[in-house]
Amino acid sequence: MVEDLRLDSLEGVGPVTTRKLSDAGVHNIMDLIVRGPVEIAEITGMEKDTAEKIVNKARQHLVEGGLLAKDFVSASEIYKHRQSIGKITTGTNCLDTLFDGGIETQALTEVYGEFGCGKTQFAHTMSVMVQKPKEEGGLNGSVLYIDTENTFRPERIVSIAQAHGMDPEKVLDRIIVARAYNSAHQTLILEEAGPVIEENNVKLIVADSAVGLFRSEYLGRGTLSNRQQKLNHFVHLLSRIAETYNCAAIATNQVMASPDVFFGDPTRPIGGNVVAHTSTYRIYFKKSGKKRIARMVDSPHHPEEEVIFALGEAGVIDPEDAEKKTKKTTKKATSKKAADSDEETVESVEVETPAESSDADTTVESATEAPDDESEPQEE
Ligand SMILES: Nc1ncnc2c1ncn2[C@@H]1O[C@H](COP(=O)(O)OP(=O)(O)OP(=O)(O)O)[C@@H](O)[C@H]1O
Ligand SMILES: [Mg+2]
Repeated sequence: MVEDLRLDSLEGVGPVTTRKLSDAGVHNIMDLIVRGPVEIAEITGMEKDTAEKIVNKARQHLVEGGLLAKDFVSASEIYKHRQSIGKITTGTNCLDTLFDGGIETQALTEVYGEFGCGKTQFAHTMSVMVQKPKEEGGLNGSVLYIDTENTFRPERIVSIAQAHGMDPEKVLDRIIVARAYNSAHQTLILEEAGPVIEENNVKLIVADSAVGLFRSEYLGRGTLSNRQQKLNHFVHLLSRIAETYNCAAIATNQVMASPDVFFGDPTRPIGGNVVAHTSTYRIYFKKSGKKRIARMVDSPHHPEEEVIFALGEAGVIDPEDAEKKTKKTTKKATSKKAADSDEETVESVEVETPAESSDADTTVESATEAPDDESEPQEE
Protein backbone atom coordinates (compact mmCIF):
# COMPACT_ATOMS: atom_id res chain seq x y z
CA MET A 1 0.00 0.00 0.00
CA VAL A 2 2.87 2.37 0.77
CA GLU A 3 4.07 1.85 -2.81
CA ASP A 4 0.69 2.94 -4.16
CA LEU A 5 0.82 6.16 -2.26
CA ARG A 6 4.09 7.38 -3.67
CA LEU A 7 3.83 10.82 -5.21
CA ASP A 8 5.51 9.72 -8.44
CA SER A 9 2.89 7.07 -9.00
CA LEU A 10 0.57 9.93 -10.00
CA GLU A 11 0.46 10.60 -13.69
CA GLY A 12 2.22 13.85 -14.55
CA VAL A 13 4.12 14.09 -11.29
CA GLY A 14 7.77 13.75 -12.12
CA PRO A 15 10.91 13.90 -10.01
CA VAL A 16 10.97 17.72 -9.94
CA THR A 17 7.46 18.09 -8.56
CA THR A 18 8.01 15.20 -6.18
CA ARG A 19 11.08 16.94 -4.83
CA LYS A 20 9.28 20.26 -4.51
CA LEU A 21 6.47 18.59 -2.62
CA SER A 22 8.62 16.58 -0.28
CA ASP A 23 10.76 19.63 0.50
CA ALA A 24 7.53 21.22 1.65
CA GLY A 25 6.70 18.25 3.86
CA VAL A 26 4.29 16.54 1.49
CA HIS A 27 5.50 12.98 1.26
CA ASN A 28 2.73 10.92 -0.20
CA ILE A 29 -0.65 11.02 -1.89
CA MET A 30 -2.52 11.12 1.41
CA ASP A 31 -0.62 14.27 2.36
CA LEU A 32 -1.79 15.95 -0.84
CA ILE A 33 -5.40 15.36 0.12
CA VAL A 34 -4.90 16.35 3.70
CA ARG A 35 -3.29 19.67 2.82
CA GLY A 36 -5.56 20.58 -0.09
CA PRO A 37 -4.77 22.60 -3.27
CA VAL A 38 -4.65 26.08 -1.70
CA GLU A 39 -2.09 25.07 0.83
CA ILE A 40 -0.10 22.99 -1.63
CA ALA A 41 0.20 26.03 -3.90
CA GLU A 42 1.21 28.19 -0.96
CA ILE A 43 3.92 25.94 0.40
CA THR A 44 5.46 24.84 -2.87
CA GLY A 45 5.09 28.04 -4.83
CA MET A 46 3.48 26.17 -7.73
CA GLU A 47 0.56 27.60 -9.69
CA LYS A 48 -2.80 27.13 -8.05
CA ASP A 49 -4.12 25.42 -11.19
CA THR A 50 -1.29 22.92 -11.13
CA ALA A 51 -1.82 22.26 -7.46
CA GLU A 52 -5.51 21.70 -8.04
CA LYS A 53 -4.79 19.25 -10.85
CA ILE A 54 -2.37 17.28 -8.72
CA VAL A 55 -4.69 17.16 -5.74
CA ASN A 56 -7.58 16.08 -7.95
CA LYS A 57 -5.49 13.30 -9.39
CA ALA A 58 -4.52 12.26 -5.90
CA ARG A 59 -8.15 12.16 -4.89
CA GLN A 60 -9.07 10.12 -7.96
CA HIS A 61 -6.23 7.72 -7.24
CA LEU A 62 -7.49 7.14 -3.71
CA VAL A 63 -11.10 6.79 -4.84
CA GLU A 64 -10.06 4.16 -7.38
CA GLY A 65 -8.08 2.36 -4.71
CA GLY A 66 -11.17 2.39 -2.50
CA LEU A 67 -9.39 4.47 0.11
CA LEU A 68 -11.52 7.54 -0.21
CA ALA A 69 -15.21 8.11 -0.79
CA LYS A 70 -16.33 9.35 -4.21
CA ASP A 71 -17.64 12.88 -4.63
CA PHE A 72 -21.16 11.76 -5.45
CA VAL A 73 -22.24 8.77 -3.51
CA SER A 74 -25.40 7.07 -2.57
CA ALA A 75 -26.38 6.88 1.05
CA SER A 76 -25.85 3.15 0.97
CA GLU A 77 -22.27 3.71 -0.17
CA ILE A 78 -21.71 6.12 2.69
CA TYR A 79 -23.21 3.53 4.97
CA LYS A 80 -20.78 0.97 3.60
CA HIS A 81 -17.83 3.35 4.00
CA ARG A 82 -18.87 3.98 7.56
CA GLN A 83 -18.64 0.26 8.17
CA SER A 84 -14.86 0.65 7.93
CA ILE A 85 -14.96 2.96 10.94
CA GLY A 86 -13.13 1.35 13.81
CA LYS A 87 -13.99 1.76 17.46
CA ILE A 88 -11.61 1.82 20.38
CA THR A 89 -12.95 0.72 23.73
CA THR A 90 -12.33 3.03 26.68
CA GLY A 91 -11.79 -0.01 28.89
CA THR A 92 -14.78 1.00 31.00
CA ASN A 93 -18.44 0.09 30.78
CA CYS A 94 -19.62 3.58 31.62
CA LEU A 95 -17.69 5.48 28.94
CA ASP A 96 -18.25 2.75 26.36
CA THR A 97 -21.96 3.24 26.95
CA LEU A 98 -21.58 6.96 26.41
CA PHE A 99 -19.59 6.46 23.20
CA ASP A 100 -21.73 3.58 22.06
CA GLY A 101 -18.84 1.14 22.06
CA GLY A 102 -15.81 3.39 22.05
CA ILE A 103 -14.23 6.31 20.25
CA GLU A 104 -14.39 6.21 16.48
CA THR A 105 -11.84 6.41 13.72
CA GLN A 106 -12.40 8.92 10.90
CA ALA A 107 -13.58 11.31 13.60
CA LEU A 108 -12.23 13.91 15.93
CA THR A 109 -13.31 13.60 19.54
CA GLU A 110 -12.92 16.73 21.59
CA VAL A 111 -12.70 16.31 25.34
CA TYR A 112 -13.18 19.51 27.25
CA GLY A 113 -13.39 20.32 30.91
CA GLU A 114 -11.79 22.04 33.85
CA PHE A 115 -8.21 21.38 35.04
CA GLY A 116 -7.84 18.05 36.79
CA CYS A 117 -11.05 16.62 35.36
CA GLY A 118 -9.23 13.74 33.67
CA LYS A 119 -8.63 14.79 30.07
CA THR A 120 -4.98 13.74 30.16
CA GLN A 121 -5.83 10.54 32.04
CA PHE A 122 -8.37 9.71 29.35
CA ALA A 123 -5.82 10.39 26.60
CA HIS A 124 -3.31 8.10 28.34
CA THR A 125 -5.91 5.36 28.74
CA MET A 126 -6.92 5.52 25.08
CA SER A 127 -3.25 5.37 24.06
CA VAL A 128 -3.12 1.98 25.74
CA MET A 129 -6.54 0.69 24.69
CA VAL A 130 -6.00 1.33 20.97
CA GLN A 131 -3.18 -1.21 21.10
CA LYS A 132 -5.44 -4.02 22.24
CA PRO A 133 -6.28 -6.59 19.59
CA LYS A 134 -9.56 -6.16 17.74
CA GLU A 135 -11.24 -9.01 19.63
CA GLU A 136 -10.64 -7.07 22.81
CA GLY A 137 -11.96 -3.77 21.57
CA GLY A 138 -8.74 -2.19 20.31
CA LEU A 139 -7.43 -1.65 16.80
CA ASN A 140 -4.03 -3.20 17.25
CA GLY A 141 -2.60 0.20 16.33
CA SER A 142 -0.02 2.66 17.53
CA VAL A 143 -0.34 6.18 18.82
CA LEU A 144 0.94 9.58 17.86
CA TYR A 145 0.80 11.64 21.04
CA ILE A 146 1.28 15.38 20.60
CA ASP A 147 2.13 16.66 24.05
CA THR A 148 1.91 20.43 24.32
CA GLU A 149 1.92 20.81 28.11
CA ASN A 150 4.58 18.32 29.02
CA THR A 151 2.07 16.20 30.88
CA PHE A 152 2.68 12.92 29.05
CA ARG A 153 3.83 10.41 31.67
CA PRO A 154 5.21 7.04 30.56
CA GLU A 155 4.79 5.85 34.17
CA ARG A 156 1.05 6.28 33.81
CA ILE A 157 1.12 4.27 30.59
CA VAL A 158 2.98 1.50 32.43
CA SER A 159 0.35 1.34 35.20
CA ILE A 160 -2.55 1.47 32.79
CA ALA A 161 -1.03 -1.26 30.61
CA GLN A 162 -0.39 -3.46 33.65
CA ALA A 163 -3.91 -2.94 34.92
CA HIS A 164 -5.17 -4.19 31.56
CA GLY A 165 -2.85 -7.18 31.50
CA MET A 166 -0.64 -5.85 28.72
CA ASP A 167 3.14 -5.83 28.42
CA PRO A 168 4.10 -2.25 29.42
CA GLU A 169 7.29 -2.19 27.40
CA LYS A 170 5.56 -3.19 24.20
CA VAL A 171 2.86 -0.63 24.88
CA LEU A 172 5.40 2.16 25.42
CA ASP A 173 7.17 1.21 22.20
CA ARG A 174 4.04 1.86 20.22
CA ILE A 175 3.45 5.39 21.47
CA ILE A 176 5.28 8.01 19.48
CA VAL A 177 5.46 11.16 21.54
CA ALA A 178 5.97 14.52 19.89
CA ARG A 179 6.57 17.32 22.32
CA ALA A 180 5.34 20.60 20.84
CA TYR A 181 7.13 23.74 21.99
CA ASN A 182 4.93 26.38 20.43
CA SER A 183 1.80 26.53 18.37
CA ALA A 184 3.63 26.71 15.05
CA HIS A 185 5.65 23.65 16.01
CA GLN A 186 2.48 21.85 17.07
CA THR A 187 1.01 22.45 13.63
CA LEU A 188 4.23 21.46 11.90
CA ILE A 189 4.27 18.14 13.75
CA LEU A 190 0.86 17.36 12.34
CA GLU A 191 1.76 18.54 8.86
CA GLU A 192 4.71 16.18 8.84
CA ALA A 193 2.85 13.29 10.45
CA GLY A 194 1.71 11.47 7.28
CA PRO A 195 4.63 9.07 6.85
CA VAL A 196 4.81 8.41 10.60
CA ILE A 197 1.15 7.45 10.63
CA GLU A 198 1.55 5.25 7.59
CA GLU A 199 4.72 3.46 8.64
CA ASN A 200 3.68 2.78 12.22
CA ASN A 201 0.05 1.90 11.66
CA VAL A 202 -1.02 4.77 13.89
CA LYS A 203 -4.68 4.39 14.80
CA LEU A 204 -4.93 7.14 17.40
CA ILE A 205 -3.66 10.72 17.36
CA VAL A 206 -3.81 12.65 20.60
CA ALA A 207 -3.41 16.42 20.85
CA ASP A 208 -3.18 17.19 24.59
CA SER A 209 -3.85 20.07 24.83
CA ALA A 210 -4.93 21.09 21.36
CA VAL A 211 -5.61 24.65 22.38
CA GLY A 212 -3.26 25.59 25.24
CA LEU A 213 -0.32 26.91 23.23
CA PHE A 214 -2.51 28.92 20.90
CA ARG A 215 -4.22 30.45 23.88
CA SER A 216 -1.07 31.41 25.76
CA GLU A 217 0.78 32.74 22.73
CA TYR A 218 -2.00 34.90 21.43
CA LEU A 219 -3.26 36.07 24.78
CA GLY A 220 -3.92 39.78 25.07
CA ARG A 221 -2.29 40.55 21.77
CA GLY A 222 -5.45 41.78 20.17
CA THR A 223 -4.91 39.16 17.51
CA LEU A 224 -7.76 36.91 18.35
CA SER A 225 -8.91 36.29 14.84
CA ASN A 226 -5.37 35.43 13.85
CA ARG A 227 -5.25 32.91 16.67
CA GLN A 228 -8.60 31.44 15.72
CA GLN A 229 -7.47 31.11 12.15
CA LYS A 230 -4.33 29.23 13.17
CA LEU A 231 -6.20 27.06 15.62
CA ASN A 232 -8.82 26.41 13.00
CA HIS A 233 -6.13 25.26 10.60
CA PHE A 234 -4.69 22.88 13.21
CA VAL A 235 -8.04 21.37 14.13
CA HIS A 236 -9.13 20.95 10.52
CA LEU A 237 -5.86 19.30 9.67
CA LEU A 238 -6.31 16.91 12.58
CA SER A 239 -9.80 16.01 11.50
CA ARG A 240 -8.83 15.55 7.85
CA ILE A 241 -5.94 13.30 8.85
CA ALA A 242 -8.29 11.22 10.98
CA GLU A 243 -10.63 10.83 8.04
CA THR A 244 -7.97 10.17 5.43
CA TYR A 245 -5.92 7.70 7.44
CA ASN A 246 -8.89 6.07 9.14
CA CYS A 247 -7.60 6.81 12.61
CA ALA A 248 -9.17 8.23 15.72
CA ALA A 249 -8.19 11.68 16.97
CA ILE A 250 -8.58 13.13 20.44
CA ALA A 251 -8.18 16.84 21.09
CA THR A 252 -8.31 18.07 24.66
CA ASN A 253 -9.43 21.54 25.55
CA GLN A 254 -9.34 23.12 28.97
CA VAL A 255 -12.33 25.18 29.97
CA MET A 256 -12.74 27.40 32.94
CA ALA A 257 -15.63 27.39 35.31
CA SER A 258 -17.42 30.69 34.75
CA PRO A 259 -19.38 31.57 37.87
CA ASP A 260 -20.92 34.51 36.04
CA VAL A 261 -22.91 32.22 33.81
CA PHE A 262 -25.98 31.07 35.68
CA PHE A 263 -27.94 29.59 32.86
CA GLY A 264 -26.93 26.94 30.42
CA ASP A 265 -23.49 25.43 30.35
CA PRO A 266 -21.41 26.98 33.13
CA THR A 267 -18.15 26.48 31.29
CA ARG A 268 -16.76 27.92 28.13
CA PRO A 269 -14.31 26.22 25.82
CA ILE A 270 -11.07 28.17 25.71
CA GLY A 271 -10.70 27.81 22.00
CA GLY A 272 -14.00 29.50 21.44
CA ASN A 273 -16.10 27.59 19.00
CA VAL A 274 -13.51 26.66 16.44
CA VAL A 275 -12.83 23.29 17.94
CA ALA A 276 -16.50 22.59 18.45
CA HIS A 277 -17.39 23.20 14.82
CA THR A 278 -14.84 20.79 13.50
CA SER A 279 -14.92 17.98 16.02
CA THR A 280 -17.33 15.21 15.35
CA TYR A 281 -17.90 14.40 18.99
CA ARG A 282 -17.64 16.63 21.99
CA ILE A 283 -17.38 15.23 25.46
CA TYR A 284 -17.58 17.38 28.53
CA PHE A 285 -15.81 16.12 31.69
CA LYS A 286 -16.82 17.53 35.02
CA LYS A 287 -15.55 16.97 38.55
CA SER A 288 -18.03 15.74 41.08
CA GLY A 289 -16.12 15.11 44.30
CA LYS A 290 -13.79 12.20 43.64
CA LYS A 291 -15.94 11.02 40.77
CA ARG A 292 -16.16 12.49 37.32
CA ILE A 293 -19.11 13.09 35.03
CA ALA A 294 -18.83 12.73 31.27
CA ARG A 295 -21.47 14.20 29.02
CA MET A 296 -21.88 13.67 25.30
CA VAL A 297 -22.54 17.06 23.71
CA ASP A 298 -23.43 17.77 20.08
CA SER A 299 -23.03 14.32 18.62
CA PRO A 300 -24.50 13.69 15.18
CA HIS A 301 -25.93 10.37 16.31
CA HIS A 302 -25.57 9.84 20.05
CA PRO A 303 -28.24 10.99 22.47
CA GLU A 304 -27.13 13.73 24.84
CA GLU A 305 -26.32 11.58 27.79
CA GLU A 306 -24.27 11.62 31.00
CA VAL A 307 -22.34 8.92 32.78
CA ILE A 308 -20.27 8.79 35.94
CA PHE A 309 -16.71 7.54 35.80
CA ALA A 310 -13.66 7.66 38.05
CA LEU A 311 -9.90 8.02 37.79
CA GLY A 312 -7.53 5.44 39.12
CA GLU A 313 -4.28 3.62 38.58
CA ALA A 314 -5.86 2.00 35.51
CA GLY A 315 -6.63 5.42 33.99
CA VAL A 316 -10.32 6.09 33.47
CA ILE A 317 -12.28 3.45 35.36
CA ASP A 318 -15.82 2.45 36.22
CA PRO A 319 -17.04 4.05 39.45
CA GLU A 320 -17.75 0.61 40.98
CA ASP A 321 -14.11 -0.31 40.51
CA ALA A 322 -13.03 2.81 42.36
CA GLU A 323 -15.25 1.83 45.29
CA LYS A 324 -14.00 -1.74 45.30
CA LYS A 325 -10.42 -0.52 45.40
CA THR A 326 -11.07 1.93 48.17
CA LYS A 327 -12.43 -0.87 50.33
CA LYS A 328 -9.50 -3.10 49.51
CA THR A 329 -6.99 -0.42 50.40
CA THR A 330 -8.53 0.66 53.63
CA LYS A 331 -7.50 -2.79 54.79
CA LYS A 332 -3.96 -2.60 53.50
CA ALA A 333 -3.40 1.08 53.95
CA THR A 334 -1.41 0.95 57.11
CA SER A 335 1.98 1.82 55.71
CA LYS A 336 2.10 4.84 53.47
CA LYS A 337 4.48 4.41 50.60
CA ALA A 338 5.88 7.03 48.30
CA ALA A 339 4.18 7.37 44.94
CA ASP A 340 7.19 5.89 43.16
CA SER A 341 6.98 2.60 45.00
CA ASP A 342 7.06 -0.62 43.01
CA GLU A 343 4.08 -2.17 41.31
CA GLU A 344 3.08 -4.38 44.26
CA THR A 345 2.13 -1.36 46.28
CA VAL A 346 1.00 0.97 43.55
CA GLU A 347 -2.61 0.01 43.96
CA SER A 348 -2.80 0.93 47.62
CA VAL A 349 -0.90 4.17 47.18
CA GLU A 350 -3.25 5.31 44.49
CA VAL A 351 -6.49 4.93 46.36
CA GLU A 352 -5.53 5.88 49.82
CA THR A 353 -4.68 9.33 48.55
CA PRO A 354 -7.85 11.18 47.66
CA ALA A 355 -8.26 11.38 43.91
CA GLU A 356 -8.19 15.16 43.97
CA SER A 357 -4.68 15.39 45.35
CA SER A 358 -3.00 12.18 44.27
CA ASP A 359 -1.30 13.64 41.28
CA ALA A 360 0.52 16.55 42.79
CA ASP A 361 2.46 17.11 39.61
CA THR A 362 -0.57 17.65 37.46
CA THR A 363 -2.44 19.57 40.07
CA VAL A 364 0.32 22.13 40.49
CA GLU A 365 0.65 22.56 36.79
CA SER A 366 -3.07 22.93 36.42
CA ALA A 367 -3.35 25.39 39.23
CA THR A 368 -1.06 27.80 37.49
CA GLU A 369 -3.04 27.42 34.31
CA ALA A 370 -6.47 27.52 35.74
CA PRO A 371 -7.15 31.18 36.39
CA ASP A 372 -7.97 32.46 33.00
CA ASP A 373 -8.93 35.81 31.69
CA GLU A 374 -12.63 35.81 32.10
CA SER A 375 -12.83 38.61 29.63
CA GLU A 376 -11.54 36.55 26.74
CA PRO A 377 -14.07 37.14 24.03
CA GLN A 378 -16.10 34.21 22.82
CA GLU A 379 -15.58 34.42 19.15
CA GLU A 380 -17.76 33.21 16.31
N1 LIG B 1 -2.36 7.31 39.43
C1 LIG B 1 -3.52 7.90 39.63
N2 LIG B 1 -4.49 7.30 40.34
C2 LIG B 1 -5.67 7.90 40.56
N3 LIG B 1 -5.98 9.12 40.10
C3 LIG B 1 -5.05 9.76 39.41
C4 LIG B 1 -3.78 9.20 39.13
N4 LIG B 1 -3.09 10.08 38.41
C5 LIG B 1 -3.89 11.14 38.26
N5 LIG B 1 -5.07 10.95 38.86
C6 LIG B 1 -6.21 11.88 38.89
O1 LIG B 1 -6.23 12.60 37.73
C7 LIG B 1 -6.36 13.99 38.02
C8 LIG B 1 -5.66 14.78 36.97
O2 LIG B 1 -6.30 14.53 35.78
P1 LIG B 1 -5.74 15.05 34.40
O3 LIG B 1 -4.29 15.31 34.49
O4 LIG B 1 -6.20 14.09 33.37
O5 LIG B 1 -6.55 16.41 34.28
P2 LIG B 1 -6.71 17.31 33.00
O6 LIG B 1 -8.16 17.35 32.70
O7 LIG B 1 -5.79 16.86 31.94
O8 LIG B 1 -6.26 18.71 33.58
P3 LIG B 1 -5.53 19.93 32.82
O9 LIG B 1 -6.61 20.75 32.19
O10 LIG B 1 -4.86 20.66 33.91
O11 LIG B 1 -4.58 19.36 31.86
C9 LIG B 1 -5.76 14.17 39.38
O12 LIG B 1 -6.35 15.24 40.04
C10 LIG B 1 -6.12 12.86 40.02
O13 LIG B 1 -7.41 12.99 40.55
MG1 LIG C 1 -4.11 17.62 31.05
